[in-house]
Amino acid sequence: MTVRILGTGSALPQTTVTNDDLSKIMDTSDEWIRTRTGIGTRHLAKEETTASLSVEAACRALENSGVSAQELDFIIVGTVTGDNITPSCACTVQAALGADRAAAFDINAACSGFLFALHTAYAYIHAGIYRTGLIIGAEVLSRIMDWTDRSTCVLFGDGAGAAVVRADETGLLGFEQGSDGEKGVVLSCPGRPNNNPLVSNPTDLRFVHMDGQEVYKFAVTTVPASIARVLEKTKTAPQDVRWFVLHQANVRIIHSVEKRLKAGEEKFPVNLDHCANTSAASVPILLDEMNQKGMLSRGDKIVLSGFGAGLTWGTALLEW
Ligand code: UT7
Repeated sequence: MTVRILGTGSALPQTTVTNDDLSKIMDTSDEWIRTRTGIGTRHLAKEETTASLSVEAACRALENSGVSAQELDFIIVGTVTGDNITPSCACTVQAALGADRAAAFDINAACSGFLFALHTAYAYIHAGIYRTGLIIGAEVLSRIMDWTDRSTCVLFGDGAGAAVVRADETGLLGFEQGSDGEKGVVLSCPGRPNNNPLVSNPTDLRFVHMDGQEVYKFAVTTVPASIARVLEKTKTAPQDVRWFVLHQANVRIIHSVEKRLKAGEEKFPVNLDHCANTSAASVPILLDEMNQKGMLSRGDKIVLSGFGAGLTWGTALLEW
């Protein structure tokens, strides 16, 4: 028994901010951002929260799958920007949906969060513990950006993507996930200052710090190797895969993976131009856009692959 995606949904904040908008408040340009990353516009949350975006995406996924909230056995949200330390974003989503049978919790695997949630769903379902679940990738990264650091803040956007999953004979055909905590320092966000009066507070560490070139090197080596391993394990040729839905961090990373796999550029959809990097939300948002456009047909083989802070990575091969 494996896990199949029955339906998808996504939600983006109303406010859009173009590269030109950013160039009015910091030393950057549309030309630099577009040529280095492929990003044109991002959605940034003003009124929206990680939970409100998650709920919106979840409602669409439930509607798309024809499953009711009461049927959900579990809700897992992959996020590093939950609105509260506790309760979790997943518990807030559960309450909003009235999914009172569901066990709900968040997982922190940064940009790989949706893949880790999918694999956790598989483990529950394959073990026979649960039958139906909701998995979400959601972020309001704009809240943890250093808006004086042009090398990071122009790269990210906010949003949420969701999928309803259920036990089935086909669906997830193979996967792998991994972590390299030794390299965690290259992409980090320490978070809260220590409030203990006995401890002297260090400098403000609330914001994201990234060594972009190190993350880039990690991505262009780890992602194709991870995909190749999953394809080998499942005896699938890259040519037999209909779509490679990769984490949307940088179009140059996507092109590099595509060249290594020699699978054809047209199989690598990109939505960086209007979403930027939404971390855990990027794979499910793109998957939902493709679903809404009718690009996914029953039986299609689809690779999902995410990578990011931790460092973490995860790849899945699905039959749609
Ligand atoms: O999902 C999380 C995973 N994160 C990633 O995947 C990010 C991976 N890394 C990258 O995508 C790229 O490394 C970046 C897009 C972050 C940076 O591209 P790069 O080609 O590695 O540029 P760089 O860091 O080498 O910077 C080149 C120049 C520097 O100026 P100098 O030293 O050459 O004069 C930067 O100061 O570009 C400058 N720069 C900018 N210029 C205009 C950095 N940020 C900006 C900016 N606008 N926003």
